Amino acid sequence: MSHDKIQQIFDGWAEEGTGDRLEHAHGDVVEQVVDKMNIHAGEKILDLGCGTGWATRMLAKAAPGVQAIGIDLAPQMIARADELHSFTIRARYDLGTFEALDFEDASFDRAFSMEALYYSPHVDKALEELLRVLKPGAPADVIIDYFEDSPGTARWAELMDVAMCSKSEAGWKAAFEEAGFTNVKTARIVDRRGPGEEAAFEPDEWTPDWATQVSIHENGSLWIHAEKPA
Ligand SMILES: C[S@@+](CC[C@H](N)C(=O)[O-])C[C@H]1O[C@@H](n2cnc3c(N)ncnc32)[C@H](O)[C@@H]1O
Repeated sequence: MSHDKIQQIFDGWAEEGTGDRLEHAHGDVVEQVVDKMNIHAGEKILDLGCGTGWATRMLAKAAPGVQAIGIDLAPQMIARADELHSFTIRARYDLGTFEALDFEDASFDRAFSMEALYYSPHVDKALEELLRVLKPGAPADVIIDYFEDSPGTARWAELMDVAMCSKSEAGWKAAFEEAGFTNVKTARIVDRRGPGEEAAFEPDEWTPDWATQVSIHENGSLWIHAEKPA
């Protein structure tokens, strides 16, 4: 299982500032989900694929005394997360991979992940590890934008030039259930800011035309909520 290519890409994103721009791109969707997560005071939360750590910090601020730990395999992302860290909150950012989490069994009250899980070269192993580190009854809230029911994202794996795990909404639900999670629910979260203005739209390789922009916006982000059996 090689992470080399993924690390290279995301170290590059950190260095060129793309990592910093993800907060603006994903911020509204993450805020909507974090608002629904009902985070309690003092919880210990794992953020899988934390990038520059903005969502880790949002989780840490969600209730008093929350401890949020982000992990990411890209050293430059972790370095940027450390630079942006606020010392008034309990957050930290560790180098690590989804498939070999360096934490004790049953050590987290909940887990979160934004736009990261499908990069795993071994999603089954990542889900097995996620289940292992959660306490019995603990929830995981995972958000992804790349899924088969959002056809505007279908080209992303080719553009990234890495293998990305492609599943439908039903396929992701089944994967979590097969990994041993219970109470698995999926929902779509649509960015409240809308798709933008057509007159101001600038095509690029990711969104080559306005119709793709609208389609990606309307299909929204896929939110997967799952729980470790109590
Ligand atoms: C698209 S970025 C999202 C970062 C952050 N969650 C955000 O929304 O800004 C995906 C992140 O997942 C990390 N990642 C991908 N596969 C990983 C794996 N198998 N183990 C750990 N981190 C991984 C990447 O290094 C990258 O920083």
